[in-house]
Amino acid sequence: MKKPWAGRFKEKTSRTVESFTESISFDRRLWRYDIMGSIAHAKMLGKQGIIPGSDSEKIVRGLEEIAKEIEAGKFKFRDDLEDIHMNIEAALIKNIGPVGGKLHTARSRNDQVALDLRLLLRTEAKEIISLIKRFQKTILSVAEKNLDVVMPGYTHLQRAQPVLLSHHLLSYIEMLQRDRERLEDALKRINILPLGSCALAGTTLPIDRAYVAKLLGFKGISENSIDAVSDRDFAIEFLSDASTLMMHLSRLAEELVLWSTEEFSFIELPDAFTTGSSIMPQKKNPDVAELVRGKTGRVYGNLVSLLTIMKGLPLSYNRDMQEDKKPVFDTVDTLKACLAVFDEMFSGIRFKKQRMRETAGEAYSTATDIAEYLVRKGLPFREAHEVTGRIVLHCIENRKRLEALSIEELKKFSYLIGEDIYSNIEAEESVKARRSRGGTAPSEVRKQIKRLRSVIR
Ligand code: ARG
Repeated sequence: MKKPWAGRFKEKTSRTVESFTESISFDRRLWRYDIMGSIAHAKMLGKQGIIPGSDSEKIVRGLEEIAKEIEAGKFKFRDDLEDIHMNIEAALIKNIGPVGGKLHTARSRNDQVALDLRLLLRTEAKEIISLIKRFQKTILSVAEKNLDVVMPGYTHLQRAQPVLLSHHLLSYIEMLQRDRERLEDALKRINILPLGSCALAGTTLPIDRAYVAKLLGFKGISENSIDAVSDRDFAIEFLSDASTLMMHLSRLAEELVLWSTEEFSFIELPDAFTTGSSIMPQKKNPDVAELVRGKTGRVYGNLVSLLTIMKGLPLSYNRDMQEDKKPVFDTVDTLKACLAVFDEMFSGIRFKKQRMRETAGEAYSTATDIAEYLVRKGLPFREAHEVTGRIVLHCIENRKRLEALSIEELKKFSYLIGEDIYSNIEAEESVKARRSRGGTAPSEVRKQIKRLRSVIR
């Protein structure tokens, strides 16, 4: 097929070059946005009298027909027409005649592709935000149902202090909330109209960019035509926010993997969300969680890809930028899939409360409570720490749990210790006493739940 830019050339493009430079195999995904943008552009051309109103109407109708064709799977995408923009334009001209050639007035593929990508990201970011919200709600209801479960909290993957399972789960809701806010914020910069920048310098024709922005629902208009066709920072920002979100999901994934081991035995994952082994009949593997963790690597890679693609480019548009699409599309798909599968899996997780509770009280996890008990009796914290450390060492050497020590034994370490120490050693009591703001006490966790319920809407 004849290229829209064939005029200046004497030779045909080599087939090798056509297949090397084409992007239609992946940018066809932009079709809906490309047509949406073209319709708005055609309406503006008509309104401004740059093309006759009747031509504008013909073009709009022609574009709507093409949309139907693509929707129905009847459109033939051609790689000799390079990309989605030229495929749709060529089909328009074929369908409605030479008047279709008026669509590309006061426009370039450079501002067109920037527009399409912004429109796609606007839609997808909103979708991802609502998937995050749904997942937050699921975690929240699991946290509410398990408010009574005490588990070991960890630092360095060593048992540290008893906490509420709900408290632990709510921490992920906080992370996801920031992920959402970051995406909302990125939307402010995504939601800017680049169309009307043309190739790089604007146009001599009397276009009305504000009108196009209004038709397409953009909150702002790019103020520098060179910037608008040159930069992909809005996509990089999306990829960066996506990477942070995946990092959070990956840490959750890692905990689900650990917790479902025989060694931890904190949870049982639902059968429907685990897989078996082709050789070991007894196996039940946490592949979903592992894949979320693994896909995080790919999403990071996508961010680094685009940063690297952009880093050495002189202004303004360069064809290198065509490579922006795959990382963006792949990230969108990966995020949506990970959020959806985790959301479904989460409500089916069975928490082994008994095991969590037992392990919460082991490993001298309430030693800090003894130290704070001594502080309340007037001992400086450093001394209290030292005294408690000696108590723990005594327990280790005599193979005893803290609560098994008699009051006489305890008093040898400090005369400040009285009978009331025992309630401080108990895991439930330890949790209940951590009432500082944002602490793990049930009273505080209930406040968190209440707050989050109104935040996650
Ligand atoms: N397919 C191209 C891309 O994705 C569209 C812009 C092409 N512009 C050009 N001057 N060759 O970036």
